[in-house]
This record gives sequence, structure tokens and C-alpha cells, in this order.
Amino acid sequence: MIKKPIIIGIETSCDETAASIITEDEQGTPLVLSNIISSQINVHKEFGGVVPELAARSHLEKIDLIVKKAIDDSGIKFSEIDAVASTAGPGLIVCLSVGLSFGKAIALSLDKPFIAVNHLEGHALSPRLNSNLEYPYLLLLISGGHSQFLNVKKFGKYERLGTTIDDALGEAFDKTAKVLGIDFPGGPQIEILSKKGNPDKYDLPKPIFHRGGCNLSFAGLKTAVLKIAKEIKTDQEKFDLAASFQKTIEMILRKKTLEAFVQFEKKNQLKEKVFVIAGGVAANKKIRSMLVDLCKEQNYKSIFPPINLCGDNAAMIGMVGLEKFKLKQFNELDCSAKPRWALDEKATFLKGAGIKL
Ligand code: KG4
Ligand code: ZN
Repeated sequence: MIKKPIIIGIETSCDETAASIITEDEQGTPLVLSNIISSQINVHKEFGGVVPELAARSHLEKIDLIVKKAIDDSGIKFSEIDAVASTAGPGLIVCLSVGLSFGKAIALSLDKPFIAVNHLEGHALSPRLNSNLEYPYLLLLISGGHSQFLNVKKFGKYERLGTTIDDALGEAFDKTAKVLGIDFPGGPQIEILSKKGNPDKYDLPKPIFHRGGCNLSFAGLKTAVLKIAKEIKTDQEKFDLAASFQKTIEMILRKKTLEAFVQFEKKNQLKEKVFVIAGGVAANKKIRSMLVDLCKEQNYKSIFPPINLCGDNAAMIGMVGLEKFKLKQFNELDCSAKPRWALDEKATFLKGAGIKL
């Protein structure tokens, strides 16, 4: 029997310190042997957002323990690791540098290959950790830093169909939560509060709803929420605003997903139409069920990573590392962290004033 590769994945791009051991079964399906995540929510709570220097210091304090726990929990020996995969970008440079340097040090000490992984590629392929996913598929990536529709043609080949021109969706959730007085990261709380409110109470704007293809925009919506929040006096009004925000997001995503379906179908010869939704905001159950219904209606198969793999984790990084290991796509130890690293490097940058859609 041929020994299957064992990869250690390391993730420190933002405020989660994570390590995971990945291998594969006889059919080549990835197997997660351990998946350790340590969140820094308590470190950043009082500041209402991630403070890069504090995040980096916290990664530095914990990375060795997290890596040791990932190895111990997996049941493998340190010497059995065949390659090290660390997130190299995009993200906060001071944070990325911690996991990148730690990963390089492990690779150097074991004399094994080092693999620099794009964090977004981890999210994009994360559903492969629990389902047999065939290419091509349409991906909606909705996280705290990114919101985009991608045509995933095959491993390593990504074509951006649409992106946010301002805020990421997770950021819009977190900022709305903040103006409603909810502690960081408030995104998940909006969903909970919205259950107690009237979604039709406030008529919120839906920027670039009727134009801009499947590009997205949330800045105008955030400003409108901020204005209303200033006038709010009762808890019920707060619940109503959360519910109206949640409903508006669902309407925007529904409309833009339909547009993305049209573009995706034009670009591919499809035996089966598959739509994957990944990233932290994909944990939102109401968004999930709206998109599941839309897929049924439009004859698409909908796939989500399990809730615990929607947010940042190292299993997805290890899994990209495993694919790259099989293709012998290794990196030199002098490779640097990339705070900006698009999955589709040919796509035009769509942020800032004067954008034409
Ligand atoms: O993918 P992720 O863990 O980190 C990034 O790479 O950004 O995404 C984190 C984002 C945060 O903005 C968080 O508020 C949001 O995902 N999020 C949610 C929910 N759970 C996490 N947003 C809305 N509803 C949720 N249930
Ligand atoms: Zn992420």
C-alpha cells in the first residue's frame, strides 16, 4: 500500500490561530485527522474590531501550542509530516507573517517541502472536505474580508464573475451589529435578533440592484442603517432594523445569484449545475435556506461546507496544500506574505471612486 501524504495546514491570516493535519483516503478524498482553531474574540472585543498588532501578538503566543495540539490530536508523529502548508495571503501582513514563518521553520527542520496557500482558495475549495465536488462549479464566497462570485473551472483556475465594489458582506453584518450596540463580531447576532423583528419595518437601499451584473455593493446600505440606528429608542425597533437588514441582504443575494447563474451557464458546458456557498457568512442559516430554495427553483445543486468549516480554519489550508503537494507545486522558503492576493489575478480591481460598472 502506498503511504498517503500527510500535510500540516497553518492559518493565521486574521484573528484565528489554527492548525490541522490532513491526509486522504484510498479514493483520494481528503481526510481531516485534526482541526484546531483558537479564536481571539476576547482580545478584540473591547476595540470593536480586529487590532492587527494585538492579533499578531496573540498568534505568536499560541501558534506553537496550537500546532502541537493538532499533531497530538491527529495521532501522527511529527516526523511523519510530508509537507507544510501555511496561509500566505490575503490578510493582515503582521498576522500572516506568524503562520508563514512558523510553517517555514517546520519545513526547514523536517527538510520537507513548503507550500504557500491563498486563504481564498481554502474557502473556495472548503466544501471538498465533506463532499465529492466536481469542477466546474459556481462559487459565492462571502466572508469578513471578501464577497465574490467565482467560476471555479478546476483546481487553480478561478474566474471572477462579480465582486463587492466596497464593503464585504461580513463587514456589513459586523458594522450593522456595532451600530445596534452588539459586541464584535456581531454578524451572527444579527441573525438571532432578526427573528424577533418585523423585516418589512424599514425600507433599506439595495445598491446597484438593477445594474452592475453580479457585482455587489453594501456601503450605501450600511450608511442607511447607521442613520436609522441613531433614531432608534426601543428594543423592538432594534429587532426590526436587524430583521429589515437581514431581509435586504437576502433580496440582494437572491437577485445577484440569479445574474451569476446566467453568466456561469454562458461560460461552461454543464452536465450538472452546482452552486457552492462558502466563507463565514455562509453560516447564516436564513441566507442558507433562501439560497437552497433558489437552487431548487433553478435546478442547481447547492453545496455548503459544514458550519464549523465556514469560518477561518486550517483544514481548508491543509487541503489546498494536499492538492498542491500532489502537483508538486512547492514554494521557496524566501516567499513572502501577500496582504493582497486575488484568486483571479486577471480581474480588474473594482474598488474606489469613479468605478464604471
Ligand atoms: O470567513 P471568515 O471566518 O473570516 C474571513 O476570512 O473574513 O468570516 C467572518 C465573517 C464575520 O464578518 C462574521 O460576522 C461573519 O463572517 N459571520 C456571519 C455569521 N457567522 C459569521 N455573518 C452573518 N450571519 C452569521 N451567522
Ligand atoms: Zn476567511
